[in-house]
Amino acid sequence: MSEATPVEDLTPDEAAAELARLAAIIAEADAAYYQEDAPVLTDAEYDVARQRNLAIEARFPELKREDSPSDRVGAVAQDGFAKATHAAPMLSLDNAFSDEDVTEFAGRIRRFLGLDESETLELTAEPKIDGLSLSLTYEKGKLKRAATRGNGLVGEDVTANALTLNDIPTKLAGKDWPDFIEIRGEVYMSHADFAALNAREDQAGRKTFANPRNAAAGSLRQLDTEITKSRPLNFFAYAWAAESAPFAETQSEAVAKFAEWGFQINPLMATAATVDDLIATYRNIEQKRATLGYDIDGVVYKVNRLDWQQRLGFVSRAPRWAIAHKFPAEKATTTLEEIDIQVGRTGSLTPVARLMPVTVGGVVVSNATLHNEDEIARLGVKPGDTVEIQRAGDVIPQVLRVVQDGGGKVWAMPDTCPVCGSAAVREIDDKGEADVRRRCTGGLVCPAQAVERLKHFVSRKALDIDGIGAKQVQLFQEKGVVKAPQDIFRLAARIEAEGLPPLEEWEGFGKASAKKLFDAINARRTVPFARFLNGLGIRHVGQTTSQLYARHFLNWAPFWETVVRAAEGGQESEAFAELTGIDGVGKAAAGALVDFEAEPHNRDMLSALLEEITVEAEEAASSDSPVAGKTIVFTGTLERVTRDEAKARANALGAKVSGSVSAKTDILVAGPGAGSKLKKAESLGVQTLTEDEWFELIGG
Ligand code: IVH
Repeated sequence: MSEATPVEDLTPDEAAAELARLAAIIAEADAAYYQEDAPVLTDAEYDVARQRNLAIEARFPELKREDSPSDRVGAVAQDGFAKATHAAPMLSLDNAFSDEDVTEFAGRIRRFLGLDESETLELTAEPKIDGLSLSLTYEKGKLKRAATRGNGLVGEDVTANALTLNDIPTKLAGKDWPDFIEIRGEVYMSHADFAALNAREDQAGRKTFANPRNAAAGSLRQLDTEITKSRPLNFFAYAWAAESAPFAETQSEAVAKFAEWGFQINPLMATAATVDDLIATYRNIEQKRATLGYDIDGVVYKVNRLDWQQRLGFVSRAPRWAIAHKFPAEKATTTLEEIDIQVGRTGSLTPVARLMPVTVGGVVVSNATLHNEDEIARLGVKPGDTVEIQRAGDVIPQVLRVVQDGGGKVWAMPDTCPVCGSAAVREIDDKGEADVRRRCTGGLVCPAQAVERLKHFVSRKALDIDGIGAKQVQLFQEKGVVKAPQDIFRLAARIEAEGLPPLEEWEGFGKASAKKLFDAINARRTVPFARFLNGLGIRHVGQTTSQLYARHFLNWAPFWETVVRAAEGGQESEAFAELTGIDGVGKAAAGALVDFEAEPHNRDMLSALLEEITVEAEEAASSDSPVAGKTIVFTGTLERVTRDEAKARANALGAKVSGSVSAKTDILVAGPGAGSKLKKAESLGVQTLTEDEWFELIGG
């Protein structure tokens, strides 16, 4: 694994690159886990990858990728089983790794719901079973279908196999079940059954399973039902969806019903009225972990009141009302052999520890991040030292501390770029403090940076040019034919100008592949607004911000005119205010756009690029909600819901929420205490609504 900088130290460019890397790692891990039952990452690694991805997205919401792993659960159904569409998506859970994360989780819920201190927020706590989730459809109390999670929306129909599990009732007991319901829970294998199965497999000369979860997944997803039948699988019910009628008021009441209907429910499930109680339950479950007889990998907390769950809703792949508090990941000790330097897209130099390979939590680790020179000084680490490493809260292993001094030489960060030899300096910020990162000052002269930027330009989330990846960018750059983005669209001419033979005569190319490459380039001569803007690689203007600008301006020309006017008029100008007035867009993005525009070489690049390609207009959002595509501003005190809840609802209905009133505002929702925004809206003739009128408009 390569560099890993603490999320708080990442520059936007690094964050974007890191999100791309994590998306690839997670997609690969999902495919291996869901389609082959042969994980390539340990659970802890997988969690840290997802967690790091979320942490980066939280810090840089504008960089969130279209293919973000946080919007995706699992992988697509494999061939062999019929596809089964879930009546409601099977979601995943966000993770908490520390007591503080749990406190924040409870705090977020309280703020969202607007609970005051005197009000109790009751939560349930239960073991997080390490198996595979299964959704059971019951109609009139009869089991109709069993489906694996798949990608969260569509899974595999494994009904025949599920029928072989004793813990899955074919008919619900009791009477008070809804006519239609999907009962969800976890299929797992006990330690004892796992050991016996592996012994049998070994005896028979077959491959053994790495852990009980793989054994459970491999056993349930058997095309031959007889095999499933011979494998002892268990099922705990813990969730439900798409019920035709309400059947409980709280989570604990609902789960108690499951037991009455004939399901196994986890005996350790408890409720807690405070965060301290919750943590005490966690410690209690953690203590029992070794003697449970089945694998658990954390404790799941859920808001007990179902009406509150309803209001809290979901954010992309996970409910706001639940979280998985994971057990800590593992540590290991090894020798640090060497410290290498990596150069990123913005020229940042990152020291990376090359380690004597060591197994941590089941996976061999040979690299760990050292973040920056201050971190190296803080750790006092030198090549030759014995170090403790950890994989937690971070996908890339981290060096925690020096265990034993190896007596080697003190390591010093170079003050020149190892790639281009330019000076590498620590920028001094406005407060006179030195940046923790050392950066190469070579800019576009530095091949490492130029290549990284071009790679970003052609990448999937930007121009998405098929057939041009890291390798081709590197090659074209080395040959001197592609120095800037526009050169890609003039490739044939650039090759000729450099006196080189046509591409089809290059090694590794040939007629067909050269044609394919030119076709792929030509296919991108028309590009969507957001992709184009993202592709420019402007600091703070990543995928999400680009999307927000595209949705707001729709066309490139008025957008760029606004940037030009903001550059001329400065931060006080109306144009600058328009660039920052969009909900989710910060000053940093607008400032970076203006800075970009101010550089003559960027202006030249942009106009050269626009000679080659056409930027497509963004289509206005279409939806049947009455506020779809409208720009809404909330001001004053809201009394029925919190500001966050109001915004979340408006966004869900396809509206754009903005922080400031302008001529583009469609509706101002004004609560008591509204001041200047209300005045401005009135002077601009913007429609204003009270909170009640707003709810009437959107339907309660
Ligand atoms: S609740 C909408 N409770 O963990 C929330 N999930 O990382 C649905 N899991 O997909 C999940 N034990 O496969 C819940 N007690 C438990 C669980 C549990 C294990 C799994 C489940 C889920 C995954 C999320």
